[in-house]
Amino acid sequence: MKHVLVILLGLFVIGCQTGSENHQEDSPKSTADAFVDSLLTEMDLTAKVGQMTQLTLDMLCVGSPYNLDEPHRIDSAKLHLCIDSLQIGSVLNCGGHGYPKEKWFGIISAIQAAALDGDGPGIPVLYGIDAIHGTTYTDGGTLFPQQIGLAATWNPRLAYECGRVTAYETRASGIPWDFSPVLDIGRDARWPRLWETFGEDPVLLTAMGNEMVRGYQGEDVSSPTSVAACLKHFLGYSTPISGKDRTPVWIPDRQLREYYLPGFKAAIDLGAKTIMVNSGEMNGIPVHANPAILTKLLREELKFDGLVVTDWEDIKYLFTRHRVAADYKEAIVMAIEAGIDMSMVPVDYDFPVLLKELVEDGIISEERIDQSVRRILKLKYELGLFDTPVTHYEDYPDFASEAHIQSARTSAEQSMTLLKNDNDALPIPGGKRVFVGGPRANSLNDLNGGWTHTWQGTDPGYNTPGKLTVLEAMKNREDCQVVSAQSPEQLRSASGSDYIVLVLGESPYTEGVGDIEDISMGEDQAAWVVQAAGTGAKVIMVLVEGRPRIISDMEPDCDAILMAYLPGDEGGPAIASTLMGENNPGGKLPYTYPRYPSAHTTYDHKGTDLVDPNFGMNAFNPQYEFGHGLSYTSFGYSNQVVSSGASDLSSELEVSIDVTNIGDRAGDEVVMLFVTDSVASITPPVRKLRKFERISLEAGETKTVSFALAASDFSFVGIDHRWVVEPGVFGIHTDTLSTRFELNATENIYVD
Ligand code: BGC
Repeated sequence: MKHVLVILLGLFVIGCQTGSENHQEDSPKSTADAFVDSLLTEMDLTAKVGQMTQLTLDMLCVGSPYNLDEPHRIDSAKLHLCIDSLQIGSVLNCGGHGYPKEKWFGIISAIQAAALDGDGPGIPVLYGIDAIHGTTYTDGGTLFPQQIGLAATWNPRLAYECGRVTAYETRASGIPWDFSPVLDIGRDARWPRLWETFGEDPVLLTAMGNEMVRGYQGEDVSSPTSVAACLKHFLGYSTPISGKDRTPVWIPDRQLREYYLPGFKAAIDLGAKTIMVNSGEMNGIPVHANPAILTKLLREELKFDGLVVTDWEDIKYLFTRHRVAADYKEAIVMAIEAGIDMSMVPVDYDFPVLLKELVEDGIISEERIDQSVRRILKLKYELGLFDTPVTHYEDYPDFASEAHIQSARTSAEQSMTLLKNDNDALPIPGGKRVFVGGPRANSLNDLNGGWTHTWQGTDPGYNTPGKLTVLEAMKNREDCQVVSAQSPEQLRSASGSDYIVLVLGESPYTEGVGDIEDISMGEDQAAWVVQAAGTGAKVIMVLVEGRPRIISDMEPDCDAILMAYLPGDEGGPAIASTLMGENNPGGKLPYTYPRYPSAHTTYDHKGTDLVDPNFGMNAFNPQYEFGHGLSYTSFGYSNQVVSSGASDLSSELEVSIDVTNIGDRAGDEVVMLFVTDSVASITPPVRKLRKFERISLEAGETKTVSFALAASDFSFVGIDHRWVVEPGVFGIHTDTLSTRFELNATENIYVD
């Protein structure tokens, strides 16, 4: 069979590459399409359904799934069964923990050799992995902050950097497909995957998501330093009513379009290659079985023509959990009819067998199968896998290089968000005695969070040697004298300190394992603050957490609070340099930090959310607002002017603002522009972020920041589910400055 492949490659090497846009139906048949068409004619049904099958690496290894024999190794009989007999097209994951890049090379080489040299049609396997904040499953890889920390930088360039470095190091591990970024919107603090998101606002999320995709896929996805991105989890995953993972959501179409869809739509327009489906049910229908979402919206409206993969075991769940199908076969029919291309099976061999039977019995058409197989083969072609099925780690000298580590360090530093700083408690002056304690103070795993070396990220056995915890990073410094203790009871005796730094928050978790019944920080952690209060030392709380845990009882006893999110392997030094003043914090909250366990209102809430029990307008009272973040310097805003643009919005409004560093040290400021809509046919939010830019200013320096506002920046999703601007009066706001803008139009303006 291999000779067929060689001829095909020979035939189609001439010609242009496919462009990055997904919308190409009208263009002449691309080289990739012609290649795929030809290859398809050589494939029998077994080969085709095999391509649509993705198994986890466990299924190819010695031992049983979720419990492999150590050291992990390929089982040649299983490899033969999966690759030669079932001819599966894709493998994912690691067998429970990461590997050195040399071992990855061995694993991927063995799989590709079996696929290319076996009895099948010689199609390389597409390997996929969750490299979500760096190449998380390769020993020693560079680890960035998790997405929520990247969002807090409000610096899309760093999302690009994270994507670029991750792509390079993932490719150094032989893997060309990354299940990232998460473009679910993080609007519920209880949800255990909040930290995997870019936060609660669609404008921030879209800007960060776009750049991360650009970083992953590069200019050309076939480059050996690019990976295919996978946007997940389409659609409506992130706000379950219960707050618990994979439980029901109810989202009206208008809200879906306004908040949940924009990030996906933008990344699809950019040319993102793949999408993973939401495991949950939305409005009573599991998304894996919903053609309205996976075909009508995704394919017909958004014109996505890339690969759609299920999430973990989700076709099976249609009958075992959701109970919309009576058995596995019925579930497969539903999912294929809804629009999936590849099943992340991933722990049984039945899927391809049953799918084949369904085609042979005429229940699913071969034409439908061909449609999905085409998309899968095309991606393999675009990734260059037919030419280079395995990339070699020796060709990647920058793996974990100083430059990569510096990017991760800069990202961690720029994410640092100073929530409170009474009487300039921070930074800590040189030469002080500093107590550093609390449950998160001496754990690298806590800084990294889930999906780090292992799925849950809790096993320290796989950590990269030499990376520092907060305590170690503080101890390493020469400008302070550090003491510590293991428990809050020992704090007073061990202290006698000028400063008490308490690192509190969460230990790693992901998915359902991170479900909680109570979002409070908990008594055991509060006990540290209780012990610290009244010692005479300044009390500094450092938060290392994936979601905002309630701190309202502890906050009054703290002089300063620094939010570090999940800053990754460089988090220890980044936190230490922020506490000691080398890094001036410029991060801003990408979500609203709730004050009370049941108060989960987002910043862009409605007017009625303000009405309190005393009929005042004080009900919105979070611990900290979305966008909040202090600095060791301060900034003044002046001269906000709308300098040009048409009052009917037929041309863009240019809004400029002068921002001055009025303190005595350099610092970063995030200039955020919000728009308010005075009257609208759908109750308007109290304000809505439309533009932002992070700038650096020397002490005393002024910069003029300009934003161009188009009609879409005044729009919302209207009654007819279309993006609309209604004539009337708007407010344009930066910091405390406001400009009134009256839209002079006789009719609504549709902008979609
Ligand atoms: C998660 C996905 C992930 C997949 C593969 C699932 O359980 O929901 O986000 O990409 O596993 O590991």
